[in-house]
Amino acid sequence: AILSQDDLKKIAAYKAVEFVESGMVLGLGTGSTAKHAVDRIGELLRQGKLNNIVGIPTSIETRERAISLGIPLSDLDNHPTLDLAIDGADEVDPYLNLIKGRGGSLLREKMVEGACKKFVVIVDESKLVKYLGGSGLALPVEVVPFCWKFTANKLQKLFESSGCVAKLRNDRKGQPFVTDNGNYIVDLYVKKDIGDLQVASDAILRITGVIEHGMFLDMATTVIIAGELGITIKNK
Ligand code: A5P
Repeated sequence: AILSQDDLKKIAAYKAVEFVESGMVLGLGTGSTAKHAVDRIGELLRQGKLNNIVGIPTSIETRERAISLGIPLSDLDNHPTLDLAIDGADEVDPYLNLIKGRGGSLLREKMVEGACKKFVVIVDESKLVKYLGGSGLALPVEVVPFCWKFTANKLQKLFESSGCVAKLRNDRKGQPFVTDNGNYIVDLYVKKDIGDLQVASDAILRITGVIEHGMFLDMATTVIIAGELGITIKNK
């Protein structure tokens, strides 16, 4: 390949930033793709090509990066409605439903991106799947640390017929990965599709001990896909 995966991420990110206009309140995504968008917004601000941007970060990591770039920041308490959010995804299905949260920031991402008039998702073509869970990556679920095994067992049972295995996510030191909100992540691996996604979502959220999951259903308004052959833009 002439273009690396990171080049493709950058191409998608730069395309998305073309939708940004001065004066916007912007959701700033998290992850290796969204990072390119945040950097680009910082660059355009510095060059004076964008003005009066307010950024709402979706993680501590993104907040710190935005601060280092001089992007003015705020939060959902002060800006309950956002104009536009730009973020990556782990999987995108044909209906523009997403799995997010491989980086662990799904809760804040879902809060911020759920408050946006437009939500532009940026991916390289490797993220496209026929059904959510189809890439062999996990569906992440944020859970309270208290008796996480109890909650993980309930989650695994819920998707038993899809061959689900629930695993606690660990950090690099082998300790439980802790989210920005002080919670754990249980990763659900499935062997086949989990059926109706809205039904699955409701069932997950009904388990006490679950905080949020990484399925972003009917939230993306645009998906920008960068591939070897160019950019594809899908609108809802
Ligand atoms: C962060 O928790 C995630 O939701 C990311 O947005 C997602 O994992 C995409 O990350 P990459 O752009 O690094 O693949």
